[in-house]
Amino acid sequence: MDVGSKTGAPPAGSPPDGPPVIDLRSDTVTEPTPAMREAMAQAPVGDDVLGHDPTVRRLEEAAALRLGKEAALFVPSGTMGNLIALLAHTVSGQEVWLEENSHIYYYEAGGLSRLAGLLPRLFRGRRGIPEPDDLRRLYRPPGPHFPPPGLVCLENTHNRGGGSVMTVERMKALAEAARELGLPVHLDGARLFNAAVALGVDVRELTGPADSVMVSLSKGLSAPVGSLLAGSRAFIVRARRLRQLLGGGMRQAGILAAAGLVALETMVDRLAEDHRVARALAEALASIDGLTLDPSEVESNIVLFTLPEGQEAAAFAQRLAARGVLAVPFGPRQVRFVTHRHVGPEVVPRVAAAVRASL
Ligand SMILES: Cc1ncc(COP(=O)(O)O)c(C=O)c1O
Repeated sequence: MDVGSKTGAPPAGSPPDGPPVIDLRSDTVTEPTPAMREAMAQAPVGDDVLGHDPTVRRLEEAAALRLGKEAALFVPSGTMGNLIALLAHTVSGQEVWLEENSHIYYYEAGGLSRLAGLLPRLFRGRRGIPEPDDLRRLYRPPGPHFPPPGLVCLENTHNRGGGSVMTVERMKALAEAARELGLPVHLDGARLFNAAVALGVDVRELTGPADSVMVSLSKGLSAPVGSLLAGSRAFIVRARRLRQLLGGGMRQAGILAAAGLVALETMVDRLAEDHRVARALAEALASIDGLTLDPSEVESNIVLFTLPEGQEAAAFAQRLAARGVLAVPFGPRQVRFVTHRHVGPEVVPRVAAAVRASL
């Protein structure tokens, strides 16, 4: 597996027999719950591109309400939701301001430049989370030389920041700085419900300062497919057209939306359990000689740790896989674990033992 990659097939070397594999590569490995499968089987459906799928409509209405926005759009993936937001807020040739480790910049195949025609201008946050002055510093007065800025993107929780959580106050301060500069804000909230649960706030407090937000149903919330993009009614009208442009119009998508409704309605509060397991895992890892990590920085369901000098994350992940624990190499010496519904606190001793044995 290439260093820095965060996806891919299970690394070779998983034991053929023995205890089940503990898959900590991502919360995207979660499978639909029995209630989701049941709801999918029963869902009333129609042609959603023609606007006739009642289950998609229900999901979009529920999501708009839940996220405190006028309207929402069901999209196949978080990547497409973010790309649609870029396209809907900007015109080609503008700047998009985003964090240097943000998912949109780092992991979305360059869609911001190739498909939206935007010039990325990067700021660096602390574990992905910027200060308002980080935005203000990027401002350049209008003139013939500079592409005009078009959008600020924020991410909460921040994936490459190690699941770091942006507070409501920081969110408001950043949106205020963007507004002073005349820029709309898009929030990549693939794991925004993790942030809300970690902070103990209503998710609307986090979405309120943003003009648009994308949330994923297919990560810790365990739906098989899909994300939601929410914003003003006019924004979602544009977004719906752009989804069509990108080939993201789906027909009897109520089958998928039904699982999304179960995810929204029943799977949010349990994310706290994933956070507890992540913290327990971090504490166990911190006691292993040679590993670098600070358990107090584990705020949601992501645990990043750094291997001793001379060790490579990709090779380490292979050795770990041979002991039945799957992880993602996240940098030359950095490894990522993500907790989710299929791994409870009982895995902690086994994971810690496998890590120790793989060093
Ligand atoms: C922060 C963040 N944004 C966006 C995405 C993209 O979501 P998807 O995999 O559904 O395209 C991810 C996926 O891991 C993510 O972590």
